Order: sequence, then C-alpha cells, then structure tokens
Amino acid sequence: MTKPFSQACENNKLPILNVLKVAFARSQQVLEVGSGTGQHAVFMAQNLPHLSWQPSDQGIYLEGIEQWCSEYEGDNLLAPIPLDVTEYPWPIKRVDGVFSANTLHIMSWSMVEAFFRGVRKVLPCGGVCCVYGPFNYEGSFTSPSNQQFDHWLRQRDPESGIRDFEAVDQLAREAGMFLVQDYEMPANNRLLQWQMLDLE
Ligand SMILES: C[S@@+](CC[C@H](N)C(=O)[O-])C[C@H]1O[C@@H](n2cnc3c(N)ncnc32)[C@H](O)[C@@H]1O
Repeated sequence: MTKPFSQACENNKLPILNVLKVAFARSQQVLEVGSGTGQHAVFMAQNLPHLSWQPSDQGIYLEGIEQWCSEYEGDNLLAPIPLDVTEYPWPIKRVDGVFSANTLHIMSWSMVEAFFRGVRKVLPCGGVCCVYGPFNYEGSFTSPSNQQFDHWLRQRDPESGIRDFEAVDQLAREAGMFLVQDYEMPANNRLLQWQMLDLE
C-alpha cells in the first residue's frame, strides 16, 4: 500500500499545532478521532512531546496511519486503534484530551451525536475536546467556497455536510462541556475548544 498523503494536512498542521499548544498545555493523553492519513498524529506527537498521542480511525485507515507512525522515532505516539464513533464502548478508557479534524462534516448527524456521547464517556472533568473544520453560523456559510464544499459533500453523501456551530455546541453542552474558545483558522475553518465541566 502506498503511504497516504493529504496536502490539506500539510497546509493546516502548523496553524492547528499553534492552537493545540495552548489548548492541550495541561493535558497528558490525547485521543485523536478520525486520524485519516496519520499526518496530524505524527506532527502533533513530534511537536507536543509532553503528550501521549493516540491516533484512531475506522479499520480501513489503520494501515496507512501505521505507515506514518512507523517512521516516527519518539515514544509518545501510540499505535493506531480501530475506533468507529458509533460503536460503544470506545476501545480506550480514559484520556484527558480529544482531538478531531475534518470529521464532523463527513459523518452523518447521528454519527456526530455518537461522537459527543463517546467523548462524554472518555473525558473526565476538566478534560479538553478540540474539533477542527468548517462550520456555519446562524444558518449561514462563512464563505462561498464553504458553500461549494457543502454542495459537493451532500452530492457525494446526502447525510454529510457542513454543520451548524450552534447545533454542535448544543451537543457538546449536553455532553457536559462548555465552550472555552472558538478560534478562527485559515481557509474559513474554525477550531472549537470545549472543556468538561468540573462537578464541584
Ligand atoms: C476528511 S477525513 C479527515 C481525516 C484527518 N483527520 C484530516 O484532517 O485529514 C474524515 C475522517 O473521518 C473519519 N470518520 C468518518 N466516519 C467515522 C466514524 N463513524 N467513526 C470514526 N471516524 C469516522 C474517516 O474515517 C476519516 O478518517
């Protein structure tokens, strides 16, 4: 199998890292959901050495992620695990951070709901959840290119599409989190950072 490659990952990895440096400053173990090629996993592990990074994805992606991971020489990148957000329990007990990039617009809405239900189970109080990708606000696209992208996504899979920030934030609240920061990112993307509420 040829090693998978995403140019988009190369373009967005540095801006994402700059946010994650702050968001995960006090975290130790991060679960990445939907690692895709594995490029983000290797880059984040390399540049956030205080973290233990756990890549995951649906089974068919694992071989490609393994190829990227096998070239990494550090010891803070774990072998990728199979994780479909709809299949409970997730094959991981506890982490204090969750990261996912460009996944919520690929998943159906019921999968997005499953993602937040799963996050609720693996993130303890104070845990941080960061999601990167395009979002709509107050029912509107933030750019013509996002509108075209949404049209393309829905032609390919009618259940996919750019999500409304407000609806996603509602799911995060129902999962026990509050929005810490909504970062503006290049190319009309956002990085949303939530934190699990402390119960005390
Ligand atoms: C556009 S790719 C993004 C990959 C990578 N995170 C990136 O930014 O390049 C979408 C990812 O969502 C994952 N995905 C879709 N449905 C999923 C599900 N039900 N459970 C877990 N991952 C899922 C896909 O397997 C794929 O890796």
